[in-house]
Amino acid sequence: MHLSGPLTARWTSYLGVLSTLSAVYTPAVAVKEHDFKKCDQAGFCKRNRAYADHAIASSSWQSPYTIDPNSGSFSNGQYHATILKTINDKGDTVRLPLTISFLESGTARVTVDEEKRQKGEIVLRHDSTARKERYNEAEKWVVVGGLALDKTARIESEDNTQLTVKYGPTSNFEAIVKLSPFAIDFKRDGASQIKFNDQGLLNVEHWRPKIEKAPEPEKKEGEGSEETKEAEKPREEMKEEPNGEDESTWWDETFGGNTDTKPRGPESIALDITFTGFENVYGIPSHTGPLSLKQTRGGEGNYQEPYRLYNADVFEYILDSPMTLYGSIPFMQAHKKDSSVGVFWLNAAETWVDITKAKASKNPLSIGTSAKTNTHTHWISESGLLDVFVFLGPTPKDLVTKYAELTGTTAMPQEFSLGYHQCRWNYVSDEDVKDVDRKMDKFKLPYDVIWLDIEYTDEKKYFTWDEQKFIDPIGMGKQLESHGRQLVTIIDPHIKNVDNYPVVAELKSKDLAVHDKKGNIFEGWCWPGSSHWIDAFNPAARKWWATLFKYASFKGSMENTWIWNDMNEPSVFNGPETTMPKDNLHDGNWEHRDVHNLNGMTFQNATFHALQSRKPGELRRPFVLTRAFFAGSQRVGAMWTGDNTAEWGHLKESIPMLLSQNIAGFPFSGADVGGFFGNPDKDLLTRWYQAGAFYPFFRGHAHIDARRREPYLAGEPHTTIIGAALRLRYSLLPSWYTAFHQAHVDGTPIIKPMYYTHPSEEGGFAVDDQLFVGNTGLLAKPVTEQSKESVDIWIPDNEIYYDYFTYDIIPTSKGKTVTLDAPLHKIPLLMQGGHIFARRDRPRRSSTLMKWDDYTLVVTVGRDAKLSEGDLYIDDGDSYDYEKDQYINRKFVFDGSTNAITSTDAEGRDTKSIKEGDWLKKMHGVSVDKIIIVGAPASLANKKVTVESDGKMLTAAVEYAPAGSGRAAFAVIKKVGVSIASDWKVNLA
Ligand code: GLC
Repeated sequence: MHLSGPLTARWTSYLGVLSTLSAVYTPAVAVKEHDFKKCDQAGFCKRNRAYADHAIASSSWQSPYTIDPNSGSFSNGQYHATILKTINDKGDTVRLPLTISFLESGTARVTVDEEKRQKGEIVLRHDSTARKERYNEAEKWVVVGGLALDKTARIESEDNTQLTVKYGPTSNFEAIVKLSPFAIDFKRDGASQIKFNDQGLLNVEHWRPKIEKAPEPEKKEGEGSEETKEAEKPREEMKEEPNGEDESTWWDETFGGNTDTKPRGPESIALDITFTGFENVYGIPSHTGPLSLKQTRGGEGNYQEPYRLYNADVFEYILDSPMTLYGSIPFMQAHKKDSSVGVFWLNAAETWVDITKAKASKNPLSIGTSAKTNTHTHWISESGLLDVFVFLGPTPKDLVTKYAELTGTTAMPQEFSLGYHQCRWNYVSDEDVKDVDRKMDKFKLPYDVIWLDIEYTDEKKYFTWDEQKFIDPIGMGKQLESHGRQLVTIIDPHIKNVDNYPVVAELKSKDLAVHDKKGNIFEGWCWPGSSHWIDAFNPAARKWWATLFKYASFKGSMENTWIWNDMNEPSVFNGPETTMPKDNLHDGNWEHRDVHNLNGMTFQNATFHALQSRKPGELRRPFVLTRAFFAGSQRVGAMWTGDNTAEWGHLKESIPMLLSQNIAGFPFSGADVGGFFGNPDKDLLTRWYQAGAFYPFFRGHAHIDARRREPYLAGEPHTTIIGAALRLRYSLLPSWYTAFHQAHVDGTPIIKPMYYTHPSEEGGFAVDDQLFVGNTGLLAKPVTEQSKESVDIWIPDNEIYYDYFTYDIIPTSKGKTVTLDAPLHKIPLLMQGGHIFARRDRPRRSSTLMKWDDYTLVVTVGRDAKLSEGDLYIDDGDSYDYEKDQYINRKFVFDGSTNAITSTDAEGRDTKSIKEGDWLKKMHGVSVDKIIIVGAPASLANKKVTVESDGKMLTAAVEYAPAGSGRAAFAVIKKVGVSIASDWKVNLA
C-alpha cells in the first residue's frame, strides 16, 4: 500500500480501522486541531486580518475604494457603477464593476466583480488550465428564485457624494450609497441597520501578474530575516500595494506538507458589515458553540479565531469552537428587541468571519440614552465574487422566508424519514440486519429505517455487495418491506481505483472525475484506498451517476432502498486538511478553491436526481442524507452533524447546532444519537434518545469500534424509557410532518429557538437549549447533563403552560425560569396554551403502518380561553401528487366564546371540487378518534357533545376530569368519528 501525505488524525484513525478489521485493535487518536488551519495559516485570512488591524488602529485610514462619479446609472431596480481601487502612490486604479440590485421581495443584492482583462493580459502559470475570471457560478447552484427586480425602487436624492435609493414593499427601506470611500448604509424606517465598509475593510485582491523572482542567492548565517526578504522583492511589486502587504503566500502556500499552487495569485475578497445597534448575531452554521455567536478577536470568553466556513472532515471535533465543520451556510441574522436583519454572503470558497461587538460612540446630544452596541463582522473569502444579499426584516420569519425565496426550501420528505433510523458502522450481514429488525419488534421499539455503512460493499466498491456477508440483499429488503420499513445504504463520492470495477472504468473512460492541476484524473485516498472522485459539477457526470442507481444496475437495491452520501466535503485522507487540493480542477476548469463549499451539495444533488429516475414512470420523493452541505442543500435532503462523541457535552451541543441549522434554512437536521465515537453509558444513551425525539432527523449511529447499542440492549429500565421516547416521536409524527410542510412552503424552521418565536423578549435571545416544535406550542427542553433530575425552562410569555404528560399547570409567567422535575424517565415537555396539534396514538412498528390510523387532536386552552388554533397537513408521504391537490390541509380552531371546535380547509379551498385520487379517497375513511381538551371548560362536565359533519348531527361521549392539585381540568371527547378530510364542528356547550 502506498501512503503519502501527512499523518493526520483522520489518517491515523483510518489505519486504526483497517487494523480493527484485521482484528488488531488500534485506538483512535484524538482530535488534532493542528490538522486544520488557523487564520494566520491561511495567507488570505492573515492578510485581511492584518489589513483590518491596520485600518482600525489608524485614525487616518482611508479605504482606497471609490465609485467613479461618472460611472453610475440606475434603471429598472438596478444601480450599476464602477468602483476604482487605488493600488499605488501614483494613483493607478483597478476597475471593479458594482451592481446593486433591489429585488421585489425587498432584499438588496450587492455584487462586486473585477473587470475582465484584455486578451493576453493574464499570464497564468505554465502548468495550469484553470479559468482566469473570478468564479461566478455560485448563483447557478444556489439561487432558485426571488431575483425579480423591484421596478418601483427609485433614486430619492443624489449629489456628487452619495445617492439614496428608496425600495422595499412599502418603500420603507433605503440604501445610501456613498461614493468616496465607497460605502453603503441600509436603513429601515429611517434608521440605519446594516453598513457596508463602514470600517473601511473592503478588500478585493485584484489580479496581478506574477513576477518571477531571481533565484535566491545561498543564504549565509544571519540572512533571511523578514527585512532582508522585503528588500529583495522586485521593485514593481513593492510599489503596487499601499500597505506593504505580506506577499509570502501570494503564489503558493504550504500547510501540513501540502503545497497549494496558486495560478491566479492572491484574489481574496473581504468586507466589513456592521449591524447597527444589534447585540446578537446568529447563523453561519455549522459550528459548535452557542446559537448566539461569540466574538472572535479575543477577550474573556471570546474566541481568538474567526468562524471558519470550509467544509471539512473534522475528525473527533471539539466543542465550543469556531473551527470549521462539515457544511457551511453563510447566512447571518442579527437580532435585537423587535428587529431582525440579515446578510447572505454568496461565496463558495473558503470563508472566515470575524465578529466583534462594540458600544457605538454615544451621541453627545442624546442625553440620557445609553450607547447602543454594534456588532461588527468582517467577511473574508479566498476567491470568487463579492456577492451579498441584504435582508431588512423586521422579523426573524421575514429573514428566513426571504432567504428561502432565493435558495429554496426543504424538499417535501419521504414521510418515513421523520421516524426513527437505526444505524451503526456496521450491520455486518443480511442476517444481522434481519436480526436487529426482529429484535426491535420483539421489544416493541418502533423504527422505520435500518442503515448500512461502508462495510456492506465488496471492498468499498459502491454499488456492489460483500457477497459473503450480504448473501440475499433482496430477501433482506423484503423482510423490512413486510412491515413498512426501509433500508439506507451508503454511497460515497470516492470511487475505488482498482481493476475489474466497471464503475471506476466508466468514470475514467468517460472522463467524469475531478482533475488535478495538470488536468490528469485526480487520485487520492479515502476508505477504499486509492480513489477518484466523481465531479458532480459536470452535467455529464450527473447523468452517468443516475444510471448507476437503476434497479438493474445497483443489484440488490429495491423500492425501499435509499441513500446516504458521506465524505462529500470531499474527504481525502492524504489531502491538505483532509480534503482536495485547491488547485484541482472541476467542470469548466474552475479551481476547487472556487467551489469547495459547493462540492458536497452537487454530489447530494446528483444522488437526489438519480433516485428520481430509478425506474421510468416511478417518480417518488428521494431520501438522501448528506454530511457536507451549503446554502441550497435543503432542496435535496437531510443533513447530520457528523462524527460527534458519546459525551454529555456533545449531547448538549447538539441542540444549539440544530437550532442554528433550522434558522439558516436547512432544518432537516440531526445529530448521531448516542454519540458516534465511544460508548455512552445507559443514562447518556437514554437522555440522547429523549433529545433525539426532538431532532428533525432522528438517527442512532455508532462507530465501528463502539459496542453494540441498539435500544433493546440497554436493559431495564432504560429500554422501556427509550421505547417511550420513540413512541412519543411516533405519536407526534402528524405534527412533525405538518412542521416539515411549513418548512417546505416558506422555509420556516421545524424547531425554533426562543428569539425566533418571541422576538420581543430579550431574556430569550441567548437561550439555545430549549425549542418549540413547529406551530404546536410544544416546548421541549431535553436533559443534557449527567445525573440531572430537573431542568430550568425559560418561559417566553404569559400564556398558560401545561405539562405534556400530567396536564399540570406550570406556575410561571413571562421571563421567569421554572424548574421542572425530570427524573430519567421524564422528558421535560410543555404545552403552551392556545394550540391544537395532531397525534396518532396507536403504537405501531413503523410510520408506514400508521398510514390509515385515526387521529387524536389535542387542544390546549389558552389563558384567556378564547382561541386555540392549529394545523394538520397530510399527503401520501411518498409521491409528488400533492402538487396536484392530493393533500389534506386542515385548520382547527377552538373558540372559547362560541364553545366550539371547527375543522376547515386551511387554504379555504373548495375541497369538494378536487378530483380525488385513490389516496385522498381512502383518507375519507380516516377519522378523528378523540379530542383531548386540556384546560377544558366546565360545560364539558355534561358528558356529551354534538358533532356536525357533512350535514349530519351526531353525539359523542365525553370524559371530564375537573382541575385538581395543580392539574388543569381536561376532557376527552371519545369516538368523535368525523373524517379527518372533512369540515366539521364540535359543539361543546
Ligand atoms: C464517516 C461518517 C460516519 C461513518 C463513517 C464510515 O466517519 O461520518 O458516520 O460511519 O464515515 O462510513
